[in-house]
Amino acid sequence: MPAARNHPLRWRGFTRRWRTELGLAGAFVALRIVLGAVGGPSLLLIGSVAVVAVAAFVRAARQALLERLLDSRRLRRWEHNLALVAPERTPVPLEVEAYGFGERGALRVAGGATVTELAKCSEALAACFGAKAVRVGRHPDHAGVALVSVLMSDPLARPAPDWPWLRRPTTSLWEPVPLGVSEGGAPISISLPEHNLLLGGEPGAGKSGAINLLVAAAALDPLAQLWLLDGKLVELAAWRKAAVDSAGLDVWEAVELLRRVQSVMDSRYQLLLEAGLRKVKAGSGLHLVVVDELAHYLTGPDKKARDAFIEVLRDLVSRGRAAGIVVVVATQKPGSDVVPTSLRDLFGYRLAMRCSTAAASDTILGSGWATEGYSAASIDPATRGVGYLLHESGVPQLLRTHWLDDDAVDSLATRAARLGREFEDGQGDE
Ligand SMILES: Nc1ncnc2c1ncn2[C@@H]1O[C@H](COP(=O)(O)OP(=O)(O)OP(=O)(O)O)[C@@H](O)[C@H]1O
Ligand SMILES: [Mg+2]
Repeated sequence: MPAARNHPLRWRGFTRRWRTELGLAGAFVALRIVLGAVGGPSLLLIGSVAVVAVAAFVRAARQALLERLLDSRRLRRWEHNLALVAPERTPVPLEVEAYGFGERGALRVAGGATVTELAKCSEALAACFGAKAVRVGRHPDHAGVALVSVLMSDPLARPAPDWPWLRRPTTSLWEPVPLGVSEGGAPISISLPEHNLLLGGEPGAGKSGAINLLVAAAALDPLAQLWLLDGKLVELAAWRKAAVDSAGLDVWEAVELLRRVQSVMDSRYQLLLEAGLRKVKAGSGLHLVVVDELAHYLTGPDKKARDAFIEVLRDLVSRGRAAGIVVVVATQKPGSDVVPTSLRDLFGYRLAMRCSTAAASDTILGSGWATEGYSAASIDPATRGVGYLLHESGVPQLLRTHWLDDDAVDSLATRAARLGREFEDGQGDE
């Protein structure tokens, strides 16, 4: 409406927003008139350039001053909060900066203190900062330097980008498989050879989503062989056409499948012995054995079947690595009845997705991590696919997995089923 467009309030808002620029333009025009009248065209030109230069300088200096003031205020706030949570042995901030999701800094821990000690104060620190969470990590090269992020918003609230291998015609399981992104946005991959992975988390946490990525990577590797145990019958159904063999709800059927893998493992060891090797050569075909959902196979009424299952699974997990057998197991019941410590400790990789309790999180990651601030019970239930990944060494790392929707799974599985496979162990469809 024209009347609204010319309303005096609109003009008042416009002049208030642009008052600095209008003032500068007015001063510039006035100066030009004065200089033009007093000193002629050359003085007018010099004067104009000088005015523009001074204006630019003042603006930059003001900006720099403002940033310095903000920096020193931020530093004072960090020092204050650190002194509150660690009054005896207060870490010293080396540098502190703002970034997309909050603030982060490198701190020198006090003499005699450790980064782990500081990590235990992360909840208290988050409360002092009024932040969503505080993450404390150790500098990769310096045990006395803590890398601390104060998160005002959740960087993992957004879904991870598309799986980087989505459009690859083929893959190799000897390459680290892209799994997701960290809180800092860095890509996170896992290297499957000589590793086994245990995943746990409450229903809907994103376990099958993570498993799909590993299964897709194996299915598209022309040398790899896929063995599927689908305790929920439909979770891995799309991949059956790309697998060597698969089992459903029947526990004895699952035991038979695992025994077949066991015999592949034994014959591989025989070949290694004859060749004087201690493990399979890099680049040779790997076997990926996936169990989704472990609780189904270990909580059924048939004790004999349960015992047989756990016995052969334990054997594959403990002896399979050197023979190129990789076992991935998921459970939505992370309790000691399903994942006894002796089994859990055989897994080099552990991924704890959202758990209902800190104890359940520790069942997957290992006891003690929750009290150090790494608890999957603190993951927001709304952000599915988020979990703590623990490698043999180091501290658990928070990540959000890539997600393959049904169409992506279907087209990857169809592509995988068409691959010409070159199996080495006389298994499969060739
Ligand atoms: N990485 C992810 N990004 C976005 N959404 C995800 C992600 N992972 C899972 N989801 C969402 O969460 C839902 C449940 O995921 P998923 O089936 O993997 O859970 P689950 O842990 O296997 O559950 P259950 O224990 O019942 O089998 C998915 O249908 C999807 O909508
Ligand atoms: Mg599932």
